[in-house]
Amino acid sequence: MASSVYDVLVIGSGASGLSLALRLADQARIAVISKTALTECNTLYAQGGISAVLDAKDSIESHIQDTLAAGAGLCDSEIVRLVVSQGKECIDWLLERGVPFTETASENGGSHLHLTREGGHTHRRVVHAADATGRAVETSLEQHARAHPSIEIFEHHNAIDLITAQKLGLREQRVLGAYILDVQAQQVKTFRARYVVLASGGASKVYLYTSNPDIATGDGIAMAWRAGARIANMEFIQFHPTCLYHPHARSFLISEAVRGEGGRLLLPDGSSFMQRFDSRGELAPRDIVARAIDHEMKRLGADCVYLDISHKPAEFIKSHFPTIYARCLEFNIDITRQPIPVVPAAHYTCGGILTDRDARTDIPGLYAIGEVACTGLHGANRMASNSLLECLVFAKQAAEDILQGLQSRPAPPELPEWDESQVIDSDEEVVVSHNWDEIRRFMWDYVGIVRTDKRLQRALRRVALLQQEIADYYGHFRVTSDLLELRNLAIVAELIIRSALLRKESRGLHFTLDYPVPDDSQPPHNTVLSPR
Ligand code: FAD
Ligand code: SIN
Repeated sequence: MASSVYDVLVIGSGASGLSLALRLADQARIAVISKTALTECNTLYAQGGISAVLDAKDSIESHIQDTLAAGAGLCDSEIVRLVVSQGKECIDWLLERGVPFTETASENGGSHLHLTREGGHTHRRVVHAADATGRAVETSLEQHARAHPSIEIFEHHNAIDLITAQKLGLREQRVLGAYILDVQAQQVKTFRARYVVLASGGASKVYLYTSNPDIATGDGIAMAWRAGARIANMEFIQFHPTCLYHPHARSFLISEAVRGEGGRLLLPDGSSFMQRFDSRGELAPRDIVARAIDHEMKRLGADCVYLDISHKPAEFIKSHFPTIYARCLEFNIDITRQPIPVVPAAHYTCGGILTDRDARTDIPGLYAIGEVACTGLHGANRMASNSLLECLVFAKQAAEDILQGLQSRPAPPELPEWDESQVIDSDEEVVVSHNWDEIRRFMWDYVGIVRTDKRLQRALRRVALLQQEIADYYGHFRVTSDLLELRNLAIVAELIIRSALLRKESRGLHFTLDYPVPDDSQPPHNTVLSPR
């Protein structure tokens, strides 16, 4: 069966994938692949907003300085400038596509975009749609993507592996397409493309407790690794300080904007504690706040701490945080009157596939954009609301680069079909579910907010064992989504552990009791792992 050829195969349909597809679609034939429903992705759940310099009192330089400070010496300053200076353009692009950002009254009687504040930002510069910014962005982009005749959407399609010329034994170095499981038809399809873009998001599901939805299993990172691309800075996993603590709330995020608008963190006895850890208090960067909470919970043996915004007028709370208000009320927590029980949870993957300023990876024709990439913007710690901005900027960079080369790019050759002749249906699914749980638990216990070499070594031994078991299983049984994700989670876990072991210092999000301070005897360096 001849497979169809696309100009660009986009794996992922969050802010990065859909904005890239829309920027390309007038001049190229695009396939957008989504593992489940089109809008089910991290983007949909983003709350706080998108950082951009829009206030006359703010400046690009200030946004750059705040980003560099949060990144703890590891940001690429040229990339930071590239991204920050495109903030306004990206917000205008979204407004043109109808994203309903929150406005506020201007002094002259008109209105302008309301800007909120989050940790690490020294100015108000976070554009938002109340507390459901991601939903507003994702559903607006979805409407445009579904309406565009050059964009073909494949929902419930799970990308298994990239096909490269090298894997086929050809002499040139180039990506040619991907094998993709049609989950509903239970059939593996071959997609051919002139360019492939990984826009498949982060990997926080590798931890037991996470703010991320189920899709965040690091598939793109694992696929790129298997295809031969370098992966960088995987030790820098961001733990969001404040997820709702309730037995029935599956890691619901309480936006940093709650602290930005005056929310205070409290111990169970009602006393505040953040000033003891950082003079910026509740608005210190996330790594500091998450570690402070972790420290206080362990010191007191407490199950959680509390975030209190109840001193603000009820109307203000309901209008700024309608989603959080409604969700907490479902658990009988009225945030206009009560503090919210909160705990940290894995939230964001700062590392990923190493890319250049046009989002190109090591493999010709393969791009990576959004959370799956390591662009140099975040360094050792991402500042709040810089992620959606990064998605939009690198989608634009990649689109421009792809369009420049598209006309002269030859179509890929016919590719071999997926071979299922040696496998059968599994009769032991329990192996997959057990290993899923095991990885996520030891990553939480041994590779979490506070690390030691001993814990990391312990985790490395376990992941090696699981990888053997998974490889054996993969070789014998027909692929399922759970199995594919497990295989990817195991690779991502290994990359995080190995990167963490290589960093003999504490910096940004990576904190180890064995080396508790930054190593200033040498210039700050990235942790780059190469599969070759
Ligand atoms: P995603 O939006 O996660 O999309 C990934 C896509 O890839 C999905 O469509 C998925 O189906 C697809 N995919 C994955 N694997 C495969 C596969 N194997 N085959 C096919 N498809 C695949 N950032 C901010 O800047 N501001 C915020 O306010 C903010 N709030 C957040 C709140 C929450 C609760 C969370 C979880 C994150 C938040 N972030 C925020 C981070 C930000 O939302 C993400 O970093 C960003 O949305 C990532 O976008 P993306 O396009 O890279 O990936
Ligand atoms: C939040 O709203 O706290 C999340 C913001 C982010 O992750 O950038």
